[in-house]
Amino acid sequence: MTYRIAPSILSANFAKLGEEVDNVLKSGADIVHFDVMDNHYVPNLTIGPLVCEALRKHGVTAPIDVHLMVKPVDRIIPDFAKAGATYITFHPEASEHIDRTIGLIRESGCKPGLVFNPATPLDVLDWTLDKLDMVLLMSVNPGFGGQKFIPHVLDKARKVRQMIEARGLEVSLEIDGGVGPANIMEVARAGVDTFVAGSAVFGAGKDNDPQRYNSIIASLRAELAKV
Ligand code: DX5
Ligand code: ZN
Repeated sequence: MTYRIAPSILSANFAKLGEEVDNVLKSGADIVHFDVMDNHYVPNLTIGPLVCEALRKHGVTAPIDVHLMVKPVDRIIPDFAKAGATYITFHPEASEHIDRTIGLIRESGCKPGLVFNPATPLDVLDWTLDKLDMVLLMSVNPGFGGQKFIPHVLDKARKVRQMIEARGLEVSLEIDGGVGPANIMEVARAGVDTFVAGSAVFGAGKDNDPQRYNSIIASLRAELAKV
């Protein structure tokens, strides 16, 4: 299995975001996880397509994994596609027409994914999994960084991995919330291949050291090497 580390820029220093993203990618991260919050679907407000476009203009070429915590979803999808998003994931309960939203993401040239909150059932995957590039399991309730990992999500991960394998699909399984060196190995063993880590990564090291993310990314990879 190829493992990918996706630092969530929610915990980066927004006053120097371009530099933060450069540093974390230079330190070995694979994907930029981009949390979009609207103070409606979730009780917090973050960043939108302009910031995604600014990162592309800054020279970021790594995949940008846009996690939409917004309701409604469809209006903003073309804007993120134009802004250079690679993946666009959304919460099924935030869309009136899940299949249409998946199609819209695909038609816009991006890779669609569905996101499940810790208590959201997986039923819709029966009818959508073959149309997705990513399933994202929330291991905290969405809205904030720095929360504690909810362990029952490991059972969900095993279930989704089984579904992906049973259907012979190439869908990526990502987890988001409370992941760090202490639990990443256990999470990988449950079948996850892509790991969002916000506070664990951006909280590491001294602020003025451009290499400050090397050792945290290396320790995440060292744990993954034990799987
Ligand atoms: C929460 C966001 C996460 C968050 C994760 O709603 O979707 O991506 O940044 O942060 P940590 O890794 O600190 O739990
Ligand atoms: Zn996220």
